[in-house]
Amino acid sequence: MQTYRIAAIPADGIGPEVIAAGLQALDALARRDGGFTLDVTEFDWGSDRYKRTGALMPEDGAETLKAFDAIFFGAVGAPDVPDHVTLWGLRLPICQGFDQYANVRPTRILPGIASPLAGVGPGDLDWVIVRENSEGEYSGIGGRAHRGLPEEVGTEVSIFTRTGVTRIMRYAFRLAQSRPRKLLTVVTKSNAQRFGMVMWDEIAAEVSQEFPDVTWDKMLVDAMTVRMVKNPRSLDTIVATNLHADILSDLAGALAGSLGVAPTANIDPERRYPSMFEPIHGSAFDITGKGIANPVATFWTAAQMLEHLGEAAAAIRLMRAVEKVCADGVLTPDVGGNATTQQVTDAVCDAIRGDN
Ligand code: NAI
Ligand code: MG
Repeated sequence: MQTYRIAAIPADGIGPEVIAAGLQALDALARRDGGFTLDVTEFDWGSDRYKRTGALMPEDGAETLKAFDAIFFGAVGAPDVPDHVTLWGLRLPICQGFDQYANVRPTRILPGIASPLAGVGPGDLDWVIVRENSEGEYSGIGGRAHRGLPEEVGTEVSIFTRTGVTRIMRYAFRLAQSRPRKLLTVVTKSNAQRFGMVMWDEIAAEVSQEFPDVTWDKMLVDAMTVRMVKNPRSLDTIVATNLHADILSDLAGALAGSLGVAPTANIDPERRYPSMFEPIHGSAFDITGKGIANPVATFWTAAQMLEHLGEAAAAIRLMRAVEKVCADGVLTPDVGGNATTQQVTDAVCDAIRGDN
């Protein structure tokens, strides 16, 4: 029997609530399928640790994580710690340190969940956004000078490398090729940004030559927001820079009903390091501790994790269970229901056990 070592990092806010839910569903799946077990180690990294020790994770944290097959991550961010400290203290060092350059964000409308778009239901919006996850606008290069003085300056440098752009384009074209519609939209801003973004477009065109069966087009990011809202059926696979995809995928999550259902996978496609799986949402201070966080995004990312580990059947079983529970109307308040996190989780575990 295959055993996978999973590092669970619930971290802050509703992170521990949704990760606990996800682990219960994974446990139900492992018991139901019998073909694999998960050996889960939980880490207490996050903002509380920062307040105690001055660091969100230990100095050798990344080294420790290397021994795992995958990382199951909640959310990081606390009301009394600046967001750039929490993000750069935990999540980004893992993504960048492990070269998880492909951030894969599937979005579709689940049965039983209403999109805010009129007349758009399950099947009308079925996208995968591929976000460049290692460079671009979040390269971390920049600085500030003359702090506090009138002449203070701040720079935030975007980095686009041929290696980085080529590999994300290849990943996106390959993913588009694997989906029935074989359709890719490359998001850009090469009208206003004349260097990095023009190179981005050129490399997209080059890589497209390797995938003659994929139909692709190019959209300026501002126009893309309109197309996502007005004509969701025209889109399938989408590739965008770190910043653009960050924003577009929050919009995608909202159009699919709630941020609480949107998952993401930070993948090292070369499998040199563990990949990391997390809900898109943050620590949601406004609902922390109320027991009403939507666990669906975390279930969905758990399915992405199983698929990455090679347990495709278990991934499908999990998504089938989630779809059944949503269709049955067992929903948290963010998607119009009145169920608690635990009630949704129990229903999903029951559906897993009952599934033939
Ligand atoms: P957020 O995603 O935490 O919350 C935005 C809104 O969506 C809130 O009203 C929240 O209640 C709701 N929401 C989010 N997840 C939900 C769920 N599972 N079920 C039901 N409702 C849900 O974003 P916000 O408020 O901008 O950020 C809060 C903190 O989280 C900040 O410190 C931020 O830096 C951090 N953050 C961390 C992320 C990560 O760890 N990957 C991603 C985004 C934000
Ligand atoms: Mg975001």
